[in-house]
Order: sequence, then C-alpha cells, then structure tokens
Amino acid sequence: MGQIKAAAMNFKTPFYVIHKNELDDNYKKLTSALEKHWNNYIIGYSYKTNALPWIIKHFDSLGCYAETVSEDEYELAKLVGVTKNKIIYNGPIKTKESFLEAVQNECIVNIDSQREIDWLDEVKEEKKSIGIRINFDIEKMCPGQSQCPNEGGRFGFCYENGELGKAIKQIREKKVNISGIHLHTSSKTRSLDIYRAIANVACKVKEEFSLDLDYVDVGGGFFGGLSTKPQFGEYISIMEDILAKSFDKKKTKLIIEPGMAVIGAPISYVTSVIDMFIIQR
Ligand SMILES: Cc1ncc(COP(=O)(O)O)c(C=O)c1O
Repeated sequence: MGQIKAAAMNFKTPFYVIHKNELDDNYKKLTSALEKHWNNYIIGYSYKTNALPWIIKHFDSLGCYAETVSEDEYELAKLVGVTKNKIIYNGPIKTKESFLEAVQNECIVNIDSQREIDWLDEVKEEKKSIGIRINFDIEKMCPGQSQCPNEGGRFGFCYENGELGKAIKQIREKKVNISGIHLHTSSKTRSLDIYRAIANVACKVKEEFSLDLDYVDVGGGFFGGLSTKPQFGEYISIMEDILAKSFDKKKTKLIIEPGMAVIGAPISYVTSVIDMFIIQR
C-alpha cells in the first residue's frame, strides 16, 4: 500500500498497479487445480474484464486463449498477436464477416443466436464445426443466486422452452458438427452450487441430444485470489465429480473463461481525491 501511495505521488492518476507476482501465483493455483482434476483444459482469459494490452498479452504468454465477445475484442486479440485459432468467440453481436472468419480459422466459436445458424450456410464444407451457448433456468436450480431472477438469461438457446433442441436440430440438418457447449452463467454469489448446476446441465444436455463433445465450456464467474472465498480446487473438483460420469476426460476438454478470478484481486486502481463536500443532515 505504501508503494502504491508513493507511485501515486509520481504518476498522473488514475492508473492501475498490477501485482505481477500475485497474479502469477494465483494463476498457477488455477492451472494446478485444473491439472489435478481435469488435465485436459483450456483457459480463455475474458477480454471484457480488463483488456489492457499488457494484461491480454501476459495471459497469452501464460498459454491462455483470448475469450472475446465482439468483433472489436476479436480484432484486438489478432492485433496483439494471439495465434489465430487460440481465440474463443462468444456473444450475440458477432458480425457475419468475423463469425465466418473465426469458424474458418478454427477458433472456438459458440453460436449465440438464430442468425449465426443461418450464416453457417456460408461456411466452407470441411470446416463445419461449432459450439452452442446454452441458456438454462439457473434460478430454479440455485434459488436466489442468479443475476436476473425474473428476466431469465439473455444469452444462448433456452433448454427448458425447447429452443435449444430446435437449434441443435437445425444445425445438424446443415451437416455441421456440434463440437462444444457453452454454459457461462453470471451469478450474484459465485458459489460452488452454480458450478454443480452447470455440470449437471452439461451432462443432461449431452445425454438427451446424444452429443459427442470436444469441449464443455463452463465460462467464468469464479472467485479467485481471495482466501475467504471458494478456491479453484473446490470449483473444479465439484465439476469433475459430476462431469466424469458423462464425459471422458481424455476426449472432452474443460474450458473455463475467468476474468475477475484472475485479474480482480491482483490489481489496484489508483486515483486521487481532488475535492470534497460535506452533506448537511
Ligand atoms: C461469456 C463470459 N465468459 C467469461 C466471463 C468472465 O466472468 P468473470 O469476470 O465473472 O469471471 C463473462 C462475464 O460476464 C462472460 O460473459
């Protein structure tokens, strides 16, 4: 803290201080947990969480994929030199051009809307492989924990109302291989229950639709780097127990997309107080 104060006197605020050793130690805990519980994994760093060039390049150097949700983020990944197939492309607002390019480059592309299903007609024959974003009733499975209890999830195809089944049928009719499912779920609690629910839905969907999956992408939303909160080992071990019943660890990769969990705790935002006022009560 003293060092940060001293830096604040020398540099123009606001600025970030990135505690690199803390970041790297925390990241190591994450990879150790994955190695122990599901040693066939991809970590996609969530660009939306903080896309400072140093940060996204650093996560690239640690072996992470770039997790992107817009054409801007997708282009940014290419701009900083991320290998073209080490990009995960999510979200409902992809452009058609970037969607087709990403599929062609064999990025991990998770379809999030009907128009992307339509665009599949324009993908060259030999590259036809895609992931699909699943929307499910997390509020029912984890009461009081979801972010939008009344509105439901905004992303992906809903399992409960049959939209997911319809989308899978349509994709199959186009002779496109469904190689992955994506189940990111933001929650108020970041609790272990959320990941128990995600893993259960992944198994249910796999069995019900007879999917042969190269990956299960459980998204982000974890705690990380905080001793009072769940640890990486707990999250991954809970998912391992459930997923291992339906998935072969050697065949199906576990993808996680941390943002806050890897860049929340090891970063400080430094700013200055430039004025004060007193509220009379
Ligand atoms: C698809 C997706 N992946 C990963 C993340 C990262 O989440 P967090 O920063 O909570 O780990 C988000 C955040 O909303 C997201 O929408």
